[in-house]
Amino acid sequence: MTVTWPSTYFRSTYDWENLLKTHGAPLLLLDCDTLRGQYKKLAAALPDVALYFAVKSSPNAMVLETLKQAGSNFDIATPGEIKLLEARSIPPQRTIHTHPIKRDIDIRASMRYGCTTFVADNLTELEKFIPYRERVGLLLRIAFSNADAVADLSKKFGLAIEDAPHFIAKAKALGIRIKGLSFHVGSQSKNPDVHVAAIQSCAALLQDSRDSRGAPMSVLDIGGGFPIDYEGRGIPIDAFCAPIRTALAALPKNIHVIAEPGRFIAAPAMTCVASVIGIAERNKKTWYYLDDGVYGSFSGQVFDHARYPIFALKTGPTFPSVLAGPTCDSIDIIAPDIDLPKLGVGDLIIAPLMGAYTSATATEFNFVPKTQIVPVNGPEQITQPMRRIV
Ligand SMILES: Cc1ncc(COP(=O)(O)O)c(C=O)c1O
Repeated sequence: MTVTWPSTYFRSTYDWENLLKTHGAPLLLLDCDTLRGQYKKLAAALPDVALYFAVKSSPNAMVLETLKQAGSNFDIATPGEIKLLEARSIPPQRTIHTHPIKRDIDIRASMRYGCTTFVADNLTELEKFIPYRERVGLLLRIAFSNADAVADLSKKFGLAIEDAPHFIAKAKALGIRIKGLSFHVGSQSKNPDVHVAAIQSCAALLQDSRDSRGAPMSVLDIGGGFPIDYEGRGIPIDAFCAPIRTALAALPKNIHVIAEPGRFIAAPAMTCVASVIGIAERNKKTWYYLDDGVYGSFSGQVFDHARYPIFALKTGPTFPSVLAGPTCDSIDIIAPDIDLPKLGVGDLIIAPLMGAYTSATATEFNFVPKTQIVPVNGPEQITQPMRRIV
């Protein structure tokens, strides 16, 4: 496999050797300028949509602080994520809780924080809100399947749209306010067609339905799924969002539209830099063992089905090679077939687009610590590099 990079996302201007001298390897370089830029690009492509950054994609204090200052709202799913937001004094009015399945203590933790918008997609979940019905508003999550998404979330969550009237009637009978609808077309959606079809299906339901107090529903949450260009094919976000904008323009004027993007905002903001710690010749290939791997930042290759662009900082004639991680397990292979120049111990491997679902899903298997996140261009009050994600 020959990797042709840098792409538009890769900044060759970083002084990798010096960064490594200061911080050591491996590291995830977080460029807060890129993060702000991604937020602004999506906000410009969806001008009438309030963005709630999906914290799960990159639960890091500097990421949250940068986005807070850029004007983002936040999508949370667990009490742990709430703690992260509280630590950054993010006002609860700027949050929604979107996990469709919650324990009572999770609901109470969110309400104690001040978050009052929740998501539900089944009657058991709906009934959990009976004690809190005076204080909360729910979004009903509808399922739309998407064969073109890398992770089709409708397999696990969402109510079939034909069952929505029954759910809404039940909520009305229980006196629980359904203030709107939500959906998530699946992560890394390859085209906007499913977003468009979902918006159109929800429009009819929004028009027909009234909440428990007789008021029309007023919120449509169009989820996440906005894609990143891992393969360097060129997916301009403005063009991707154009049909979505058209579909949104046809909604009744009283509908407030929100979205929960994670990957699009966070992925381009981090670049993984790992160093070679061991070398072996096996089966006519050179194996390079790195200090980060599939149990670490490259865990997205397993959980998120991601394939990151990977290349060596060194240039020169290339040879069939394998990149493997530092643990003792044989699943810990990052790239089984990659052409690389001859490398020595200490040489660097660079992988851009590694800001979403990477550190977030990394483990510490074999007691290999999670890779440190080193911010650059960050808000001044917390520019100290943080070794852990929290
Ligand atoms: C409820 C919810 N909202 C938002 C997101 C973020 O989606 P993406 O990173 O595809 O934009 C996810 C991802 O799994 C999710 O489950």
